[in-house]
Amino acid sequence: MTDRYAVIGNPIAHSKSPEIHAAFARATGEDLEYTRILAPLDGFAAAVAAFRAAGGRGLNVTLPFKGEACRLATDLSDRARAVEAVNTLRFEGTRMLGDTTDGVGLVRDIGALGVAIEGRRVLLVGAGGASRSVIPALLDARPAALVVVNRTLERATELERQFGGQVEAAGFGTLARRPFDVVINATSAGHAGELPPLPRSTFATGALAYDMTYGKGATAFLALARESGAARVADGLGMLVEQAAESFFIWRGVRPDTAPVLAMLRAAA
Ligand code: ATR
Repeated sequence: MTDRYAVIGNPIAHSKSPEIHAAFARATGEDLEYTRILAPLDGFAAAVAAFRAAGGRGLNVTLPFKGEACRLATDLSDRARAVEAVNTLRFEGTRMLGDTTDGVGLVRDIGALGVAIEGRRVLLVGAGGASRSVIPALLDARPAALVVVNRTLERATELERQFGGQVEAAGFGTLARRPFDVVINATSAGHAGELPPLPRSTFATGALAYDMTYGKGATAFLALARESGAARVADGLGMLVEQAAESFFIWRGVRPDTAPVLAMLRAAA
């Protein structure tokens, strides 16, 4: 029987994950089906149980259920425990294994862009769930400094506390004349047509500006970065493909090639 997987969220119609996993399955010869599940806001656990009862093998979890998935899993990877969020569930007998692949996805995509994080000054903009989910993977990549800047300073300070001072909290007002080699936008500002108030001097000469979102919302931040002298800009489509590849590996034990799938999505955009 074909193994069944799905991405679950609310909303979910926009998700590109079915397309990505179908491409991975074709390329690796894995026999699987991957669909979308729209769960009611108060019905996540029930929707997971129903999918599992119908023979589902695993799920990708997206907004707004990543925290709930973390609490529902019977077993958590170290990285999922650290970020208090789960985007990948694997069903194993009576166990439900929770993992998070967003951080690895981001770091692999930055590597694929030819940019090293090791020894570089990295600025993470935003201190919500999206930001927290990538901090352990960024720290594993050994930056010279990882600064988290947020409009509400207290949320950044909370992350500084949680990660034992390995990250430094900052407010936008203290950023002037502190250039960074890699600037990552993890805010939701773009969705509202807004822009985090970053001084131009934030972007070091030759910097990489990376927006974790993709599509229309990513453009204002990337435009600011370009005007401010960033040498490279990237949206989060590559991260999406890389995090999907890591989930595919967790489920199937096979690591698909990401570059052709990213090229396919770019061509279709
Ligand atoms: P997510 O889980 O996607 O990270 P979130 O927890 O709501 O969502 O966090 C959204 C992030 O975007 C926060 O860092 C938020 O800043 P605050 O903590 O100060 O609210 C940030 N954000 C949203 N709109 C913003 C804007 N216009 N300018 C700067 N930061 C913004």
